[in-house]
Amino acid sequence: MPKKDKYLKTGIAGFDILFEHGIPKGKAILIEGSAGTGKTIFCLQTAYNTCRMGKKVLYMSFEESEDSLIEHMEDFGWNAIEMQKRGLLRITRFSAIDIARSVEALLSEAKKELLITTETVLFPHDFDPEVIVIDSLTAIASAFSGEDYRFRIYIEQLFRYLEKKKITSYLIKETPAPTHIGGVYKDEHGPIAFLADGIICIYNVVYTGGKRGGAIEILKMRGESFKKITVKIEIKSKSGLIVYPNQELKGNYVLT
Ligand SMILES: Nc1ncnc2c1ncn2[C@@H]1O[C@H](COP(=O)(O)OP(=O)(O)O)[C@@H](O)[C@H]1O
Ligand SMILES: [Mg+2]
Repeated sequence: MPKKDKYLKTGIAGFDILFEHGIPKGKAILIEGSAGTGKTIFCLQTAYNTCRMGKKVLYMSFEESEDSLIEHMEDFGWNAIEMQKRGLLRITRFSAIDIARSVEALLSEAKKELLITTETVLFPHDFDPEVIVIDSLTAIASAFSGEDYRFRIYIEQLFRYLEKKKITSYLIKETPAPTHIGGVYKDEHGPIAFLADGIICIYNVVYTGGKRGGAIEILKMRGESFKKITVKIEIKSKSGLIVYPNQELKGNYVLT
């Protein structure tokens, strides 16, 4: 396969330039950050850009409704309705509680963890996407609360399914605060970070003096070459996320 066919672009110009090649196809990428950093916007924008490249995208929401996500996209000028009509985009809201219950039922019926498959408890059968967004793994995890073992089985199945189908996935994970700043990466959801091929972190930045802003960093991308820098971002109405690849964070600041 020619090199360029092995990669996808997010279509966010200032971000794509941080990679030597791009997002490796068929891999699972975590989009991590605390609340309000722009994870959903990053994924909606990438989803729209991917559809514009003629690829099918499934956006699985466990938080906001279909209507509110579509409205959000249209507000930014990303023609979600058109992409849905063309059969390139599907936005569906799922209930995390239903999934947790189904997994529980399948597990107690089967008494054998290998018998549960995420196919039976998650994916629509009439749509064959090249890219999937899950917004968010955190919402799914909270429905499994107190049942870490079941969540772990579920997550392992999910990654296995995505890998088998060669689907490129953007998996949103909300963290209370950046998990690796000033130390090693901590994973409060068991195997997620280990199973993921890539981790992209989005930050809220508070500068000394109180000014606020945003930033993005590629923390990990297995086997790929990328710039290891944290750069400024802005979220603007009508354009969405803008990444400034030449503006590394400087001065005194705290990432939240
Ligand atoms: N139309 C808009 N114009 C400018 N900024 C926006 C707009 N919509 C949302 N935002 C900003 O984006 C942030 C939320 O992004 P979102 O992707 O929903 O966060 P997350 O999914 O990480 O919680 C908000 O904090 C807000 O500041
Ligand atoms: Mg969100």
